[in-house]
Amino acid sequence: MTDQSPILRLENIVKAFPGVRALDGVSLDLRPGEVHALMGENGAGKSTLMKVLGGLHQPNEGKIYIGEKQVVMDRPQTAKQNGVVFIHQELSLADELSVAENIFLGELPRKSLGRVDWEKLYTDTDAILDRLNVGFNARTRVGDLSIANQQMVEIARALTVDPRAVIFDEPTASLTDSEKVVLFDVIADLQSRGVGVIYISHRMEEIFKITDRISVLRDGSYRGTLNTAETNEEDVTQLMIGRKLDLSRNKVQHEMGDVALEVRNLSCGKLFHDVSFTVRKGEVVGFYGLVGAGRTEIAETIFGLREPSAGKILLDGQEVTINSPQDAIARGISLVPEDRKGQGLVLGMNCRDNMTLPQIGELTSGPFTSDKAEVAIFDKYHDALDIRTPGWRQTVGNLSGGNQQKIVIGKWLSMHPKVLIVDEPTRGIDVGSKSEIHNLIRDLAAQGYAVIVVSSEMPEVLHVSDRIVAMFSGRVMREFTTEEVTENNLVQAISGLSEDRVA
Ligand SMILES: Nc1ncnc2c1ncn2[C@@H]1O[C@H](COP(=O)(O)OP(=O)(O)OP(=O)(O)O)[C@@H](O)[C@H]1O
Ligand SMILES: [Mg+2]
Repeated sequence: MTDQSPILRLENIVKAFPGVRALDGVSLDLRPGEVHALMGENGAGKSTLMKVLGGLHQPNEGKIYIGEKQVVMDRPQTAKQNGVVFIHQELSLADELSVAENIFLGELPRKSLGRVDWEKLYTDTDAILDRLNVGFNARTRVGDLSIANQQMVEIARALTVDPRAVIFDEPTASLTDSEKVVLFDVIADLQSRGVGVIYISHRMEEIFKITDRISVLRDGSYRGTLNTAETNEEDVTQLMIGRKLDLSRNKVQHEMGDVALEVRNLSCGKLFHDVSFTVRKGEVVGFYGLVGAGRTEIAETIFGLREPSAGKILLDGQEVTINSPQDAIARGISLVPEDRKGQGLVLGMNCRDNMTLPQIGELTSGPFTSDKAEVAIFDKYHDALDIRTPGWRQTVGNLSGGNQQKIVIGKWLSMHPKVLIVDEPTRGIDVGSKSEIHNLIRDLAAQGYAVIVVSSEMPEVLHVSDRIVAMFSGRVMREFTTEEVTENNLVQAISGLSEDRVA
């Protein structure tokens, strides 16, 4: 047993928002050098608890101790002065500024006359970036970086102070495997220097790999803390969702119809090359591969976001030209994008309007939109996807991260597409809802939709697909039916090791 006194303690924190008791008396402590996981379903209160600790929200009740001293975290600077730094779930960077300016925002180094010491700013920034082993530098404009690299900038920002505690709120959601390795090295390094780390993630394999203890929240209540080494996924899940997860539901094989979508020798510059496949009505085809294999780009090309450099797309046997997403939607193709925050939601708008946005034309009669029809759509997907919100009037920006994603999924489902493409359908989604979304995808196929699921998670592709297309470096390496696929040959195919590339 450690008898080290904790770095910080949260005691009986209560936080209420209109219509939601987000935290209902939560206590937590963090020890020096430990990685402490915070887990719970979407909307359980994880981010809110961390925002209270980070000085972004004021609790209605409860106390925060740093060491033995009680501290009122009245603003983020107070938290930082007390050595608590926060890497947010939502990126909060200024696109127009350089990486260096973003990292030192509000604390730019100054020369004697108050002028910014640009040279020092850039050297200090590059020193931090070196530690993170990234492929950009201090002067790069943040708006030019990929989402994953922007995430690395957020992480770099936390390393400018000598922290006592670092909070990571779903840091790996958009990172590639190699970036994850760097992040875990950074965490191990913080740990070895006695820094405490609070780590929020829905990815069980990460939790069991890097954490020492796991605390669980359910509906804003504290459910307990487990030693990672003494527990397992099943017990943690049960604590999170209050029941055993039913994974027994077998994949229902349903009848398949004609080919709905056919892609023939499709290429798009250097992004992907000579890609051919079909998707039948009632079929789920999984696209599996590493980040950068070209899967998202194929989806975007079919959806009219990119122009192919060669090849054909056929819908119901007819060749079609898709010049824009409007074209795609009109032809019955929907894409639930990977970057849902950037491409999927209007954060200041309410839940219902976000969901019915693409259909606003159809739901309008005369000068008015049909409120009733819109609410009915919201209600349907609210129930089907188990979206946690006090009601449709809630602003989407106030929903928890995972629930925001469910709104986007609902939005595209409600359009009853013929071909539905879902890119990383359960990224950031908790385990319980994950299996609900998988079941929903299978149900949609059973109703005759042709579905493409792009995913980097092997269990997910294996679970939802009838057929799996394995990609490596912009090419289709192999196709598997679910009967013949094994984890081994799937891994081989996506690493480019497979001998028998399909012609
Ligand atoms: N600013 C806000 N105004 C109103 N309600 C809010 C606000 N912030 C959070 N909530 C609500 O508080 C509850 C907890 O949300 P929180 O973001 O803490 O969940 P979470 O555990 O981080 O979930 P996720 O895994 O989806 O990120 C949710 O019901 C959410 O809708
Ligand atoms: Mg959250």
